Amino acid sequence: MNTVFFDAKVSDGVRRQGLYDGQLYVHSSVPSSLALCEFARQMSEAAFAPLDPRQAQHHLPVERFANILAELKPKFIHHPRSKQLIQQVLTEMGCDLAKTHFDVPRLRTSTHDNYLTSGISYAFHPHRDTWYSAPFCQINWWLPIYEIQSDNVMAFHPRYWTQPVKNGSHDYNYQEWNRTSRQVAAQQIKSDTRRQPRPEEPIELEPQIRVVCPVGGILLFSAAQMHSTVPNTSGYTRFSIDFRSIHSVDALARRGAPNIDSDCTGTCMGDYLRGTDLAHLPDEVIRMYDTPPHMSVASEAQV
Ligand SMILES: [Fe+2]
Repeated sequence: MNTVFFDAKVSDGVRRQGLYDGQLYVHSSVPSSLALCEFARQMSEAAFAPLDPRQAQHHLPVERFANILAELKPKFIHHPRSKQLIQQVLTEMGCDLAKTHFDVPRLRTSTHDNYLTSGISYAFHPHRDTWYSAPFCQINWWLPIYEIQSDNVMAFHPRYWTQPVKNGSHDYNYQEWNRTSRQVAAQQIKSDTRRQPRPEEPIELEPQIRVVCPVGGILLFSAAQMHSTVPNTSGYTRFSIDFRSIHSVDALARRGAPNIDSDCTGTCMGDYLRGTDLAHLPDEVIRMYDTPPHMSVASEAQV
């Protein structure tokens, strides 16, 4: 990776190829991305009222804070309006809704000064989403819902675009994770005991790239990018939205970023909803990607 494209006037196909090559794309807000952020802000403010959500951590015991998030986050994720707004964002960003499938949006928080870094507000160690059973054609969309600054965003670690890292993805299976770990997120307050794929060798966090854009701005990156949560020293809880998309033609053709070190099994292909009618991908496409535990593509290739 070597380029951050701002408001690139290119087709979705050219942009996807650039993302698969490791480039970053940043777009100014569009009406629907602002509406999506506004919707998330309203829900967050209602949940924390009368406190300002960005400051609430300074006034609440951490258990209470985690409980509020445990109610707020699924409400936002599964709200029909969230899906409608994403359909509009995809359209405004030039995606073909008939071929673009998306996952429900997540509402993420990163608290100041390690107040809550586990479970419902997990501070992500350096990772690729492809260690978590994301397909290599997955594109991540990230939007801040309040103003952000350099010390409360996420960071990319560009050297690892081409440099493999020993990691624990071999033991990760998405279907297994969903069955056992996802539901207990809110109970992981003091520490996070869920087993996640991590680097198993030292990672050099520098050089790193942090993108700071205004509310409703959109950051796009490949699921194969190495990224992490920046230690938040801003004084505020950061609130952001992310969702993922895949293009069905790329999925069928197995186009996407290169796999240099991911060895997980299972797939999240079954989660994506078609832009036009929220239909799931055909079973045969999901099956193409659904490797059984310990029979991943990488280990098969070694036989
Ligand atoms: Fe991630």
